Amino acid sequence: MYFFIEPMRESDVPRVQEIERQSFTTPWSATTYLRELRSPEHSRYIVARYSHARPADQLHEPEPRRNWITNLLLSRFNASAPPSPYTVVGYGGIWLTVDEAHITTIASAPEMRGYGVGELVLNGLIDLGLELGARFMTLEVRVSNVVAQNLYLKYGFEARGTRKRYYTDNNEDALVMWTDDIASPEYQGRLRQLRMLLADRLRRQEEKGAADAQRPN
Ligand SMILES: CC(C)(COP(=O)(O)OP(=O)(O)OC[C@H]1O[C@@H](n2cnc3c(N)ncnc32)[C@H](O)[C@@H]1OP(=O)(O)O)[C@@H](O)C(=O)NCCC(=O)NCCS
Repeated sequence: MYFFIEPMRESDVPRVQEIERQSFTTPWSATTYLRELRSPEHSRYIVARYSHARPADQLHEPEPRRNWITNLLLSRFNASAPPSPYTVVGYGGIWLTVDEAHITTIASAPEMRGYGVGELVLNGLIDLGLELGARFMTLEVRVSNVVAQNLYLKYGFEARGTRKRYYTDNNEDALVMWTDDIASPEYQGRLRQLRMLLADRLRRQEEKGAADAQRPN
């Protein structure tokens, strides 16, 4: 199994909505997604795609430089690009303000959870933040959403406030989480280590998938 990150396309919206409905109690509409995709000056969305084996155009390992996930971006942000043959298994987006990249949404497909997809998407979003000159990543998360909080804590997000009754479906509070300066040497060092671990994990899964496919039933 091989996962890679690409900009979200308009043709991805139906599949994104399918995952969205399985992941959130108040899903965004298709219209909202299309509006977001058509406003690249203040918002950016990416998807994680799945392939049984590494696609031929990704056979070369990207140079291990700072933004190795950005190297995986096959195309730039052209939301009306033709549909991709590779299934969407995760997605996420950011809103940009002066020096902040605010994560608006992030999810992985329920059947693909626990394989590093959410972490890969988060890395893609951090890369976007860096590329666009943001200094901080921010987000809101339900106080009860321990799985997502674990992912964010791993990447240096800290809870720095609460928004009372932020979620209107059940009046749940939101934790407001922030990173330190994502361009700082300290954060970059942490990111580099986490990315090496993630790359190893994804490579092992890819190799296991290839070995399983060779094995007779
Ligand atoms: C949150 C979410 C995106 C995580 O995606 P995922 O693909 O399952 O996660 P990954 O396999 O990449 O795991 C990354 C990290 O998440 C945390 N995590 C994942 N599954 C976990 C679990 N079952 N229990 C606790 N922590 C977990 C861990 O920190 C993990 O790192 P580790 O493997 O080193 O322990 C996914 O669970 C999801 O889509 N949830 C529903 C939507 C949602 O809540 N989005 C967040 C809104 S703020």
